[in-house]
Amino acid sequence: MILRILVVFSLVISSSYANTIAFDYCVADPTLPHGPTGYSCKDTTKVTAHDFAYSGLRKPGNTSNVFKFGASAGFVDQFPALNGLGISMVRADMGVGGAVPIHTHRVAELLIVVEGTIIAGFINTNNTAFYKTIEKGDLFIIPPMLEHFQVNVGKIPSVVYASFASPNPGIQAVTGALFQNDLPSEIVQKITLLDRAQIKKLKRMFGGTN
Ligand SMILES: *[C@@H]1O[C@H](CO)[C@@H](O)[C@H](O)[C@H]1NC(C)=O
Ligand SMILES: *[C@@H]1O[C@H](CO)[C@@H](O)[C@H](O)[C@H]1NC(C)=O
Repeated sequence: MILRILVVFSLVISSSYANTIAFDYCVADPTLPHGPTGYSCKDTTKVTAHDFAYSGLRKPGNTSNVFKFGASAGFVDQFPALNGLGISMVRADMGVGGAVPIHTHRVAELLIVVEGTIIAGFINTNNTAFYKTIEKGDLFIIPPMLEHFQVNVGKIPSVVYASFASPNPGIQAVTGALFQNDLPSEIVQKITLLDRAQIKKLKRMFGGTN
């Protein structure tokens, strides 16, 4: 009985880690077909140390916008060596008084404040808000798929690095989902109870139509 449980358990483990066991790595080749598990592997004879480094997070994001927020992503599309490894990172910069608008990802996010003082928070499926002021050096964990946000409450621009449990975590901001597309204003009004004038104003601000 115990042996059967062990065999089943190891089958489950080995199928979920199949990629990791079969290959040391699978640097993405975006020119080859890709499916739900990720990109196909670049020819291993052409992989070099250069593939495993990425400098895209050195520069601050552009915070000249309504949220005073800019981000630089190190996801699989920017950093192909992340393919199949279940991990990625983003840099988020906020100006004084800035905010990361409320949004979701498909997976968990672990962030660290490297400059400044922020409020980090999320809302669970019971609609309880969990939020806390954290400082340089502090971590905050955001469970998968929950709406979350940050606000810079310090006196200097803030810098946060966040890692994700996926090479391609997906990002969906509520403002973008509601006001950055052609979903008719009447429907947005029905599903949010916002005033029509406010909806039109936000659609203009975020580039939506209808
Ligand atoms: C930052 O974004 C603003 C607004 O989109 C743009 O006008 C400006 O040129 C950008 N600055 C840089 C350094 O890219
Ligand atoms: C969710 O909210 C309900 C009603 O407020 C409460 O009774 C319940 O304990 C909450 N559950 C969790 C997991 O927070």
